[in-house]
Amino acid sequence: MQTVFRLILSCAMEVDRCKLILLFFTSLCSQTASGVWPLPQSFSSSPERFSLQPEAFYFAHGQDSAAKGGCSVLDEAFKRYFGLIFPEYIGKQNLSPRTTQDLSFTVVISVDQDDCQGYPAQDSSERYNLTVTAEHGALNAESVWGALRGLESFSQLVYQDNSGTYYVNKTVIEDFPRFPFRGILLDTSRHYLPLQTILKTLDGMAYSKFNVFHWHIVDDPSFPYQSPTFPDLSSKGAYHPSTHIYTQTDVQRVISYARLRGIRVLPEFDSPGHTRSWGKGQPDLLTPCYSGSSPNGQFGPVNPSMASTYQFMSTLFKEVSLVFPDSFIHLGGDEVDFTCWRSNPDVKAFMKEMGFGSDFTRLEAFYMERIVNMTRALNRTAIVWQDVFDYHEKIPRDTVLHIWKGVPADYHNELARITKAGMRVILAAPWYINHINYGQDWRTYYLVQPLNFTGTEQQKKLVIGGEVCMWGEYVDATNLTPRLWPRGSAAAERLWSDEKQTTSVDRAFPRLQDFRCKLLRRGIQAEPLFVGHCRHEYQGI
Ligand SMILES: *[C@@H]1O[C@H](CO)[C@@H](O)[C@H](O)[C@H]1NC(C)=O
Ligand SMILES: *[C@@H]1O[C@H](CO)[C@@H](O)[C@H](O)[C@H]1NC(C)=O
Ligand SMILES: *[C@@H]1O[C@H](CO)[C@@H](O)[C@H](O)[C@H]1NC(C)=O
Ligand SMILES: *[C@@H]1O[C@H](CO)[C@@H](O)[C@H](O)[C@H]1NC(C)=O
Ligand SMILES: *[C@@H]1O[C@H](CO)[C@@H](O)[C@H](O)[C@H]1NC(C)=O
Repeated sequence: MQTVFRLILSCAMEVDRCKLILLFFTSLCSQTASGVWPLPQSFSSSPERFSLQPEAFYFAHGQDSAAKGGCSVLDEAFKRYFGLIFPEYIGKQNLSPRTTQDLSFTVVISVDQDDCQGYPAQDSSERYNLTVTAEHGALNAESVWGALRGLESFSQLVYQDNSGTYYVNKTVIEDFPRFPFRGILLDTSRHYLPLQTILKTLDGMAYSKFNVFHWHIVDDPSFPYQSPTFPDLSSKGAYHPSTHIYTQTDVQRVISYARLRGIRVLPEFDSPGHTRSWGKGQPDLLTPCYSGSSPNGQFGPVNPSMASTYQFMSTLFKEVSLVFPDSFIHLGGDEVDFTCWRSNPDVKAFMKEMGFGSDFTRLEAFYMERIVNMTRALNRTAIVWQDVFDYHEKIPRDTVLHIWKGVPADYHNELARITKAGMRVILAAPWYINHINYGQDWRTYYLVQPLNFTGTEQQKKLVIGGEVCMWGEYVDATNLTPRLWPRGSAAAERLWSDEKQTTSVDRAFPRLQDFRCKLLRRGIQAEPLFVGHCRHEYQGI
């Protein structure tokens, strides 16, 4: 009680804090409130509720569904969500009702397309309708990916009362995402992230309805991707040649684990900068830097003046496009330092030959254009960081620009400029979640307005989504999860939900606090938002 008094005292001094305290008590009073995070586009529920018995609870395919038993995506999801819905139940999941039981409850899933064998893609539908009435749930979706989103929402509707009985209220949901691209970036170069950590992140992503895992797999410090074509890249460029790498088996594991959760895997092989680790296993790839007329032993960005560079890149990207099924590929292109290029006589000769004068941005543009052309020949859509647009407005029109600069205000101008040129964008700048502050910075993430820039409706449609970036300088498996959740979930709601219904952080607060408790219940070590408790605390094994 002393804490409460202290809080109430300090309340008089800080209005914001005061509001928080009120919210905190309101949320304590409504333990049966089972909201869905991110908020569905349309949601109505009533106090009428039905109890669920784990031994008489079923998922079933609808009569008219295009997907039947044997659909891996749904079959696996039925098993997963059964465990998530009934965390305390230790019996076996019954797969089909044996007889007509009075107390049985079946969720019937129907999808329009049989896309069970495929991969989620940029144009996949994630729409679903979910209706819960007495003894019955009906989940309809256009694709299996939409069905996954609906199962997630259903799982969040189920709650337990103090005696442990499971309930679900009468509910009607019609839902679809506001933006098709909702990503999380993990950086596995600055620190190596064990496979299990990546898989756990994919679980958390599915709970917040994220659908793109942007794998910033290599960078200056280390090259953990094991390439069958160029094994030296990881044997010499990784922190350790066998313990700190991702084998092809690991990569396939990530891709298939993600697929089963409706998540795309977007690999990034950033060049020509951010490539120091590449040079260890691929001699002659990087530019030797000169002091006066002789090399000084340092290396700069990829050497754009050598034919061998393009042969290597072409072979590498051919491999990458066979390994990663997604039609998008991230080519980086950010933060290129010209100092070394400027010092190198071969690069200078090449500049002269190409007629670039002394404008190194033209050389950089030339290099990026060749790489984009290469991946385009492989039927891939390139994503590049905004730098590439800033110095080169003529890159192929279907290239997607990734905005990372200009916080707190300037990214809106960049959104306006790039979409005016008719190009698609992904917004990451306001969601650099590796930056941490005291207090509730999730509020800032929540209040981002991706479309609040000067431009036509046509321009706004070119914003295909956003991304939460967790750069790895200060992050590894020890702190990734609590730093990512539930702060990342704030951005998830911004990217999924209707803007007008989600303008208030104060209204979002109790639902996010409840969602964070659900994450703990599911074994995700999500950090607290503020003072309070969860019925099932993290056990900290
Ligand atoms: C669910 O039903 C309970 C019991 O009738 C009620 O107290 C609660 O407010 C309902 N929750 C929602 C979200 O409708
Ligand atoms: C959801 O319901 C709406 C309105 O009834 C309907 O127009 C839409 O086609 C339904 N969507 C799906 C995926 O079943
Ligand atoms: C190119 O990619 C698109 C989208 O992923 C796919 O539908 C198409 O079949 C591909 N074309 C070729 C020639 O591989
Ligand atoms: C990229 O492809 C376009 C279209 O084929 C071509 O005009 C351009 O010269 C290519 N760029 C480079 C740098 O090779
Ligand atoms: C959009 O941004 C401007 C400038 O930052 C701000 O003044 C305005 O209130 C914002 N619009 C809305 C609807 O919040």
